[in-house]
Amino acid sequence: MNTIKPYYHSAGITIHHGDCLDVLPTLPSESVDFVLTDPPYLVGYQGRWDSARKVIVGDEDPAWIRPAFAEIWRLMKPDTLCVSFYGWPHVDAFLGIWKEIGFRPVSHLAFVKRQWGLGRFTRSGHETAFLLAKGHPPKPAVAISDVFDWHRDETALHPNQKPVASMAAILHAYCPPNGIVLDPFMGSGSTLRAAKNLDMRAIGIEIEESYCTKAATRMAQGILTSLFRIDT
Ligand SMILES: C[S@@+](CC[C@H](N)C(=O)[O-])C[C@H]1O[C@@H](n2cnc3c(N)ncnc32)[C@H](O)[C@@H]1O
Repeated sequence: MNTIKPYYHSAGITIHHGDCLDVLPTLPSESVDFVLTDPPYLVGYQGRWDSARKVIVGDEDPAWIRPAFAEIWRLMKPDTLCVSFYGWPHVDAFLGIWKEIGFRPVSHLAFVKRQWGLGRFTRSGHETAFLLAKGHPPKPAVAISDVFDWHRDETALHPNQKPVASMAAILHAYCPPNGIVLDPFMGSGSTLRAAKNLDMRAIGIEIEESYCTKAATRMAQGILTSLFRIDT
């Protein structure tokens, strides 16, 4: 197993710049306590404010789903959980592969936005994620709601940026204190920022260097109380 030099490492937070299909195999088996990730949705999404209007890497070709989640499974400790967002038009592809690998869906989460998109048949006002089990994880001390308010962060660092408060609520419920969180599709680092706010350790991987830079800058900032709210 090759070790690779991280792009950023400080106070238990590690960022790797690269393709997660190359980086994940370098990490030790059964070493992470929880996975919270937001992979490409396979919808050819283009960032709205980016003048280049580049498509998100991996958003057009589903070939990465199986190898990435097979590696995620290998890295998860026995009897642990993974939360993954997904693109709803391709739910069959995501769910089919997750189940083939061995994941068991144990809940489905909805994130409700206050601002709605223009839409076509409906105006989109929510995002969704599956809670997936490897083995038989213990139930959390308190079962949290499966509906989250989408408290939009002030800063827009990524077109698919997730609210840190919601990510923190998920980590608080499902990752043990001082546990290690993995996000192989890190983007601007919302999962890692939430982990840092909760004094957890975290590993993020991102293929676009510009997002690694933004995430690293975010890790260096102090804890903002507005980003630390725990939704239950
Ligand atoms: C949906 S976005 C994640 C946004 C993130 N949740 C945030 O709050 O900023 C998915 C990210 O995965 C990255 N990505 C796509 N394919 C990848 C791969 N094979 N390895 C690592 N990162 C990848 C994309 O560049 C994109 O930034």
